[in-house]
Amino acid sequence: MDKNIEIIVLNGSEKITLNTYTNEYENLMELLNDNIFINNFGECKGVGKCCTCLIEIITKKTKIIDVNRNEQITLKKHNISNLNKRLACQIMIDSNIHNLEIAIVN
Ligand code: FES
Repeated sequence: MDKNIEIIVLNGSEKITLNTYTNEYENLMELLNDNIFINNFGECKGVGKCCTCLIEIITKKTKIIDVNRNEQITLKKHNISNLNKRLACQIMIDSNIHNLEIAIVN
């Protein structure tokens, strides 16, 4: 498969480019976990409850999937109202995330 989706990840002072393809991983949290060591990242394994997979969207070229009700509840519970902050486990791997630039919030 051609890895035609590229995302830029800022992890502290590190800037990492990751390449993937549609549905290579179940979600963005899985992609990040498989490629970058981030302490305690994705603890609930993608259920959308722990908030440890929090990322901030720095730039995006297209609209990515909307916040669903589950994600909304979790973000609210953690007092997060910044609309650029998302749960990586709720973002699917598809062409909409191509050229996405994110920062790990951890
Ligand atoms: S992995 Fe727990 S909220 Fe995303």
